[in-house]
Amino acid sequence: MSSFWSMWIIVLTVISIALIVWLLFSNRKITASKENQTTGHIYDGIEEYDNPLPSWWFKMFVISIVFAIGYLIAFPGLGNFPGLLNWTSVGKWEKEVARAEQANDALYAGFMTTDTQTLAANKKAMRIGKRIFANNCAICHGVNGEGSYGFPNLTDQDWLYGGTPELIQTSISQGRNGAMPAWNAMFDNDGLEAMAQYVKNLASTDLDTDSPAGKKFAMLCASCHGAEGQGNQAMGAPNLADNIWLYGGDAGQIKHSIASGRGGQMPAHHDKLSAEKIHLLTAYVYQLSQQQ
Ligand code: HEC
Ligand code: HEC
Repeated sequence: MSSFWSMWIIVLTVISIALIVWLLFSNRKITASKENQTTGHIYDGIEEYDNPLPSWWFKMFVISIVFAIGYLIAFPGLGNFPGLLNWTSVGKWEKEVARAEQANDALYAGFMTTDTQTLAANKKAMRIGKRIFANNCAICHGVNGEGSYGFPNLTDQDWLYGGTPELIQTSISQGRNGAMPAWNAMFDNDGLEAMAQYVKNLASTDLDTDSPAGKKFAMLCASCHGAEGQGNQAMGAPNLADNIWLYGGDAGQIKHSIASGRGGQMPAHHDKLSAEKIHLLTAYVYQLSQQQ
């Protein structure tokens, strides 16, 4: 909150307290001649005396005013005016976070010295990993890491960049950029159709590598995707022969991949997440892929 609004609320509160005090005392002075006079209001024969407030009521009122002033001085809790006790809701929250982090630090330090495989079998660590995943990764990879169009499934054994703990950790920490060039200049319509069919067919056994599309594949594509389309994890080139598709396996999507290229981006997380969290996530992702 800006200090203007803090000041505004403090001034309003002080003015209201002053008004209440004035109202209270100005009504207390009743001259003796007026004692036991009625206000003149009559309701069904019931009349109302115009006497001062009972003294117990008056004292309670004064006590509550004193309390209000004391409270205002001790705990304004408003933005830049922390008050005598130095209490603000932001300060309280910061203290709570610091306490929670301290507790977590000890826990994370223990995880940090545990290797990925052992950590992946630790139920408590995996529960925390699941939460970190939900907060940072699920928007792209899905709540259970199942992936979706353009976002790889992390629960299978099919890896773009590799599924060892080291490679998973590199993917998370450094990020990845898939770079599939656009080949529209190299194909006419029929050539593109034939190439898409050839790619679709890579999974089958009767592949005609001597066909025009087969020759073009060897020339243009094999350097990244491998001679049989088996992929190359060093370049993040997907296996095209396993019937698992990042962008869909129908002819339309395959043609689109070939003609326009693809550029999937996995953001780097080393500047967003602590080394401890990345280590936990590595174990969590590793464990996802081991469940099948
Ligand atoms: C903005 C979306 C996005 C977010 C957020 C994201 N990822 Fe990714 N991730 C991707 C994309 C896209 C790829 C594939 C990159 C490519 O196509 O080359 C990928 C790839 C990966 C890979 C490599 C998969 C393989 O097959 O080799 C891993 C592991 C991974 N992400 C884990 C994570 C984890 C853990 C998090 C959370 C810290 C995360 N990602 C957050 C989009 C995202
Ligand atoms: C420079 C390396 C490179 C070359 C050459 C290359 N690709 Fe790719 N290709 C990639 C990469 C990397 C990806 C993954 C893109 C991503 O992660 O977003 C990819 C993705 C694809 C996909 C999508 C796969 C899926 O799972 O959805 C198809 C289809 C494909 N390439 C076909 C081809 C064909 C056909 C050729 C030859 C005409 C070719 N590629 C040449 C690197 C290459």
